[in-house]
Amino acid sequence: MSIVEKFMTMEYGPAPEDPREALTWLDRHGRHFGHFIHGAWQAPADGSYFETTDPSKGEKLATVAQGSAADVDSAVKAARAALPAWQSLTPHARARYLYALARQVQKHSRWLAVLETLDNGKPIRESRDIDIPLVARHFYHHAGWAQLLEQEFRGYTACGVVGQIIPWNFPLLMLAWKIAPALATGNTVVLKPAEFTPLTALAFAHICQEVGLPAGVVNIVTGDGSTGEALVKHPDVDKIAFTGSTEVGRAIRKATAQSHKKLSLELGGKSPFIIFEDADLDSAVEGLVDGIWLNQGQVCCAGSRLLMQESIADKLLGKIQDRMNTLRMGPPLDKAIDIGAIVARVQLERIQRLVDQGVAEGATCWQPSIPIPPRGLYFPPTLLSNVHPASVVAQQEIFGPVLAAMTFRTPREAVELANNTVYGLAACVWSESINVSLHVAAQIKAGVVWVNCTNLFDAACGFGGYRESGYGREGGREGLLEYLEPAWFKNAPPVHATPLAMDQPPEEPADTTAPPIDRTVKLYIGGKQARPDSGYSVEVRGADGRLLGEAPLGNRKDIRNAVEAARKAEGWGKTTAHNRAQVLYYVAENLSQRREEIASRLSAVVGKKQAEAEVSLGIERIFSYAAWADKYDGAVHNPPFRNVALAMKEPIGTVGVVCPADAPLLGFISLVMPAISTGNTVIAIPSEKYPLITGDFYQVFETSDLPDGVVNIVTGRSTELMKTLAEHDDVDAIWCFTDEAGAKAVKTLSVGNLKQVFTNEGRAIDWFDVKQGEGRWFLDHTVQVKNIWVPYGE
Ligand code: NAI
Repeated sequence: MSIVEKFMTMEYGPAPEDPREALTWLDRHGRHFGHFIHGAWQAPADGSYFETTDPSKGEKLATVAQGSAADVDSAVKAARAALPAWQSLTPHARARYLYALARQVQKHSRWLAVLETLDNGKPIRESRDIDIPLVARHFYHHAGWAQLLEQEFRGYTACGVVGQIIPWNFPLLMLAWKIAPALATGNTVVLKPAEFTPLTALAFAHICQEVGLPAGVVNIVTGDGSTGEALVKHPDVDKIAFTGSTEVGRAIRKATAQSHKKLSLELGGKSPFIIFEDADLDSAVEGLVDGIWLNQGQVCCAGSRLLMQESIADKLLGKIQDRMNTLRMGPPLDKAIDIGAIVARVQLERIQRLVDQGVAEGATCWQPSIPIPPRGLYFPPTLLSNVHPASVVAQQEIFGPVLAAMTFRTPREAVELANNTVYGLAACVWSESINVSLHVAAQIKAGVVWVNCTNLFDAACGFGGYRESGYGREGGREGLLEYLEPAWFKNAPPVHATPLAMDQPPEEPADTTAPPIDRTVKLYIGGKQARPDSGYSVEVRGADGRLLGEAPLGNRKDIRNAVEAARKAEGWGKTTAHNRAQVLYYVAENLSQRREEIASRLSAVVGKKQAEAEVSLGIERIFSYAAWADKYDGAVHNPPFRNVALAMKEPIGTVGVVCPADAPLLGFISLVMPAISTGNTVIAIPSEKYPLITGDFYQVFETSDLPDGVVNIVTGRSTELMKTLAEHDDVDAIWCFTDEAGAKAVKTLSVGNLKQVFTNEGRAIDWFDVKQGEGRWFLDHTVQVKNIWVPYGE
């Protein structure tokens, strides 16, 4: 036999990892676990347990506690009790704990990797080389953030007690993504791991004990969805962080809508894997192996939709099939295995059901003829070609080793297909042309774009979605903000409880030198003054009851027209930041020229003193946002391998803004200007108290080169208009700064398309105080960060 023949026929021998250490640890606990609460193991209040099994063998690994509402309550109480002492530690002391956790994870890396593989079914190669090193990296990175917290996030404070719910696909890694930033920022935690994979979270509890983490700072409650639900609904939880299905994410949005819980959601995906004809096809195929067969495809950012340029489709499919024939499926503890077991029978059945449905809808199914283990939960790597973009396998998250392939002709068509989804978690672009790659990357609506690489993660680089893939980021600076709040905001009184500095009854009801007012304004939609669809107007009266003019009574139709106009104006987000700054300066300048006239009209409603302050501070504030426009930019991250990650701040899109009642002009400016400064388009509902500002603004906008449709103003009954805006599926974010009822209503009404919500939580904001009324806190809500990973080097 020649060497070549030997090489070609060489068989892999078995290379099993030794599970003894992990099994001994399970045995030491009698394979029986309670919850980890207040630093100790605690039996479930109602005595319920369930089993967790090894999906590759179907064998029971351990019995774990099924958490009830009483258990969750006990964990939340422990977290609350631990909060003051944890927060009073110096940043350095907290950093030391995080550092100790990182060190301990590293020391126990093999034990943790094996335990993860036993419980989840993923190949040991992955848990050993990807999951656990990333867990350690996350704690190291965040130990650094804990150290720097006060310098880098001055004026911010922790949310408090955080409830965290994680899925089964990367159990310990998701725990690290959640716990590390929460602890670094001074929160205490109750975490619920997924019911299929609780073991490494319990091992982490053990590590918390080993490093002497103060009792109650981390609490782990195991259980199923009902345990998660109890945590979400617990009244003493300040924030919920969730990773899992979009369906449950939506349920959590609904369940928290009537509360002030801060929320971050990392949900499903149907990520495109785009290969252009000039790509290095062999590398792209290797990328695809990681993209869709990593962790048996049970990855939220899996490259599950293959988009191939038509000219290379046949050749590429051939190469993919050849490669699939060499994938090795088998016992996940074998070090030479590519594809392990599916986490649970229900998941296996779901994958099969979706594949059958795809075939019924016309897809061609191809599976390699590789050995499948006779026992255990295995699903072969699967290629579906001739997939119609609208078919179920192109639209729904399968969460299995199934690739759905489609073709495109031009980069433009590739982008259209890529964005033809409700999701927006990740994307891959393969092309040797950096121009094409970055041009396409910029147009894809996704939180992460990997250029000529795939499934790379790092603690310094934020990860999270656009659209129905959720919001909030994990990792990086933006990830920390999810666990922080401005200190003044956390302590702000409820709206109306304490009068604001300027919120006094006008001592001079009107500016008597002003001409009598009888001003009739129109709506402002798409750069044009528009009559309301209803044909009705409402009277606007001053503080003394005097008729000041009339404003249109906008309705649903007007809101819909305004949304359409705002969508059409989205090119605004692509203009240069310099250009946007320039327009904002013009707006300020033109407002300035009419300052006396505007102030005198406004004075009839809010008094002379406030009116003048609103106008002059308003002009300053527009200057501020003009200044920010070309300075609020992204970052370049340096992950610990040969890549740069370009963290680009992109506008969220079309934003509905419900303005505060009491500072009609300044409130409008304080919300609309940051939103447009970063490239969003806006539909604003001005204060009912003085809708006549619409007239002032459209004159100002018309003379300031603001493109049509960037700002649209619809007056009328705020509550009714807000409802249409919040429910509208083509609005990406809704802001409401009225009162408690308004905040709750927008959260409840906007669950449908999971739009991003930003409200005052019913708290009073002093718009006249620069610290409260302007700056980064607002800007941070106007953008979503997209990380574009680009490899460099040979
Ligand atoms: P899931 O979303 O039901 O589970 C995720 C976590 O949420 C688990 O800890 C679960 O116990 C908890 N949970 C379930 N219902 C809850 C509720 N009402 N309130 C609070 N917490 C709740 O995901 P599941 O059922 O494990 O998988 C179903 C599908 O979801 C998968 O086939 C996949 O398509 C998708 N999925 C997506 C993930 C992602 O990372 N994007 C992760 C896991 C699943």
